[in-house]
Amino acid sequence: MFLLTFTVVNIAPTRQKLENDVFTISGIAQKYNCALKRLDWQQEQGFTSSLVLGENAIEIQRGMTTSSTAIFIPFMTKELRMDGAALYYGMNALSNNVIMADRKRLKNPNGLFLGTPGSGKSFAAKREITFIMLMTQDNVIICDPEDEVRQEVA
Ligand SMILES: Nc1ncnc2c1ncn2[C@@H]1O[C@H](COP(=O)(O)OP(=O)(O)O)[C@@H](O)[C@H]1O
Ligand SMILES: [Mg+2]
Repeated sequence: MFLLTFTVVNIAPTRQKLENDVFTISGIAQKYNCALKRLDWQQEQGFTSSLVLGENAIEIQRGMTTSSTAIFIPFMTKELRMDGAALYYGMNALSNNVIMADRKRLKNPNGLFLGTPGSGKSFAAKREITFIMLMTQDNVIICDPEDEVRQEVA
């Protein structure tokens, strides 16, 4: 169990815009069965609590289980971006960052393409082979029982 204080900071150029924003945000929160409390007369405490100082000056707390608390941790994607002679392996679907890896420097250098028929497994493998030929001095040895690669090269 954790005791959680969740603060949201709203900043707007005018008072009227701020009122409108707060109204809109309350509506959105209400849709998900959440009630936001406006920290009237406690804005300063609310603001300092939202900074990464590890200080909480707001006394409103809620008991939450570990898994419910974990939802609020924003770092939920794992990035793979190696420097040096790294190859492009596509985009991270969650963070939209590029995935750059040099398999030979990972814990296990083996690789496997998984996917439904027609999803691009062979294409991805051929793209990787092309990158290896362009970027490294490695030998490329293709074992191809279906004779798919030779047909396309020829
Ligand atoms: N990244 C991609 N962008 C555009 N088209 C792609 C991409 N990957 C695959 N394709 C196309 O999708 C089709 C199926 O790809 P393929 O690699 O043969 O699939 P698989 O081997 O998984 O069955 C091919 O016509 C290929 O040109
Ligand atoms: Mg294929």
